[in-house]
Amino acid sequence: MKVPNISRLQAKPSQARIVDSQQVNIDDAVALLRRGEILGIPTETVYGLGADATNGLACAKIFEAKGRPTFNPLIAHCTGLDMARRYGQFTVLADRLAEAFWPGPLTLIVKRASDCAVADLVTAGLDTIAIRVPAAPVMHDLIAALGAPIAAPSANRSGHVSGTDAQAVADDLGHATALIIDSGPSPVGLESTIIDASGDHPILLRPGGLPRDRIEDVLGAPLHSAPRQVDADRPIAPGMLASHYAPSCPVRMNAETHEENEGWLAFGDVDTGSVRKYGTTNIVNLSPKGDLREAAANLFAGLRELDAAGVTAIAVSRIPDVGLGEAINDRLRRAAIGRDIRT
Ligand code: TXA
Ligand code: MG
Repeated sequence: MKVPNISRLQAKPSQARIVDSQQVNIDDAVALLRRGEILGIPTETVYGLGADATNGLACAKIFEAKGRPTFNPLIAHCTGLDMARRYGQFTVLADRLAEAFWPGPLTLIVKRASDCAVADLVTAGLDTIAIRVPAAPVMHDLIAALGAPIAAPSANRSGHVSGTDAQAVADDLGHATALIIDSGPSPVGLESTIIDASGDHPILLRPGGLPRDRIEDVLGAPLHSAPRQVDADRPIAPGMLASHYAPSCPVRMNAETHEENEGWLAFGDVDTGSVRKYGTTNIVNLSPKGDLREAAANLFAGLRELDAAGVTAIAVSRIPDVGLGEAINDRLRRAAIGRDIRT
């Protein structure tokens, strides 16, 4: 019988269900993921807050739950290199690192595969993707049964330390998770090491659970370190990875309507008078019903679509600065900085 961990349930009656990893019913847990729920999941590094990586709405819930006022790209967790190849383009270098260290505490940044089914929100609109193969057997079983990667940041609210046991996850994020899978304290206790392996030279983006010297031993060469970025959106060295996508045209926020040749990133029940006036089709409504989760899930695809349409600027409807709206506005503001044609 699948028995939840009763003592923990009693300790936090109003919090999430915690189930031991030895006893969890994988099919039930996967059914939750398929329904778009988010789960507390154990990995060898730290606990993650996991969702089906191909479900944009579910991934939006992750950001909502973390209360992070910005969209950072998430790691897509896979069962192995074979699966990872369906989502990312593995260079010789990436292959070598994956073969040496997966499963384990190493995240590789590679170019997104052309038919990558992972939601835009996971990669924050970038053309690269962070992929990791975690060692925890229960994660392998979950991802294999789901048949898709699990997107997961560390399971902690924004500004809190990463959760390294199930109770810490329950205390921080219990209200948001349908289930927390408990496999005891995370053995590594530090987040994974992140290497950008999308180019010719490996770059250490985040030191973590896999020490630098072990990686250098395999490569037979020193690892480049990422220069400190003053502003995450403005890479300071040519070819350095930008951590966020931004459209190439100006972005005008809090627009009531849009002007000729502008694209319109609308939200909610907007007046389409200007659309009739200019006969434009360059309008993307992030969420006609005004749902912030839906808007978050559509944000990067919407920006990219308008950008690709060759508009002179993107006018964005006013988006309420509450809940996920804060992260949406943060992203738009960064895109608009210095280029806002109306101050
Ligand atoms: O050990 C870990 O890595 C844990 C477990 C749950 O796997 N996850 C974790 O996720 O620490 P998170 O979201 O807290 O940190 C992931 C980092 C973020 O700093 C994000 O900016 C970076 O990975 N990242 C993700 N995709 C990226 C990309 N395409 N380019 C550059 N950085 C990326
Ligand atoms: Mg984190």
